[in-house]
Amino acid sequence: MSTLYEAYRKEFPILRQYSQLSSCSQSALHQEVKASVTEYMNSWEQSGMDWDMWMTACEEARSQFAQLINAEPCEIAIVSSVSHAVSAIAASLKPQANRNEVLVTDFDFPTVGHVWLSHQERYQINYLGAKADGTISLQDYEKAISNQTLLVSTSHISYYNGFKQDLSELSKIIHDNGSLLFVDAYQSAGQTPIDVKAMDIDMLSTGLQKYMLGIPGIAFLYIRKELAEAITPSITGWFGQQNPFAFDIRNSTYADGARRFDSGTFPMINGFAAKAALTILLQLNMNEVETYLHSLSEVAIQAANESGLSIKSPLDVSRKGSNTALFIPNAGQAEKRMKELGHIVSARNDVIRIAPHFYNSATEVKNAIYALAEVHADLKVN
Ligand SMILES: Cc1ncc(COP(=O)(O)O)c(C=O)c1O
Repeated sequence: MSTLYEAYRKEFPILRQYSQLSSCSQSALHQEVKASVTEYMNSWEQSGMDWDMWMTACEEARSQFAQLINAEPCEIAIVSSVSHAVSAIAASLKPQANRNEVLVTDFDFPTVGHVWLSHQERYQINYLGAKADGTISLQDYEKAISNQTLLVSTSHISYYNGFKQDLSELSKIIHDNGSLLFVDAYQSAGQTPIDVKAMDIDMLSTGLQKYMLGIPGIAFLYIRKELAEAITPSITGWFGQQNPFAFDIRNSTYADGARRFDSGTFPMINGFAAKAALTILLQLNMNEVETYLHSLSEVAIQAANESGLSIKSPLDVSRKGSNTALFIPNAGQAEKRMKELGHIVSARNDVIRIAPHFYNSATEVKNAIYALAEVHADLKVN
């Protein structure tokens, strides 16, 4: 059983017991991520408090994330979730009467739609639907956007079927139209290269729990520096100030760049997990990771076809991320049965998502799909 970076496998203890193939939901725990969380707990227990060390860990995570997506640290805000990031943008942008449309795609995770809908008094929220095959083409965007479109909100990779969009081409269309692009990268960061400058992305957010090897409770929001400075945050806090320790309650001077979107005290323990997770991710070559995951997608598609399972993901692996979604009407039950059999997979609505990472092998993917076919057949009978 070999993987892309075989040496890493032993550093994820759970892999001795389970095939964890759930990176679209929660990736496996690396021993250094656990050690980093323990370091925070030890510091609290042994020195009572160490704000400098805790803040430094979170700042390190911010800088590492900036490096991962080719941004500057001052273009990154530390937030608590992707929902928080979208809320901060939605609350802070200033729509004009003749440019107030926000175009949300069907790929957006529901929380993104819910956040925009909560601001529908200020924006015209429209939805761009996916085709029957679960994809949206660049031509669909060209037709849908207009000079009323303030912002397009979409996901790099779909949480449901793994469909991956070409952000470089998309951003050209959106910018030619004078609109802004917000990207939810929660399903792509950590499994595919992201270069916000080359892709010309205005705003992007991701949490750490999925392919980023971390835990929930911390997320990052990238905002292009010039854009960030043109926005006055409406969701903010003392960490978003130029000097949080000025303790001047009567005046507010926002920090430079996206840092003005930092809010309250950093989620310290989550920052420790993020720092360790990003240290591992930055050791990898994201192009290699993506190529390897494409090869695992080929394996998944072949095994699903052999087993007679219906595939909801694009069949062209270059148009998808790691996740291969297989149609299983009672997916929730199937997920539980699969765990009993030693395969950790992720149910979403009517699909089971097989979402390997660089530490998984082709054998694990194949065996999980063969087992799923049996579970599916059994659930149909009983
Ligand atoms: C693409 C995507 N965006 C957003 C979320 C939710 O993000 P949060 O809980 O950090 O708001 C998820 C969670 O599954 C997701 O897959």
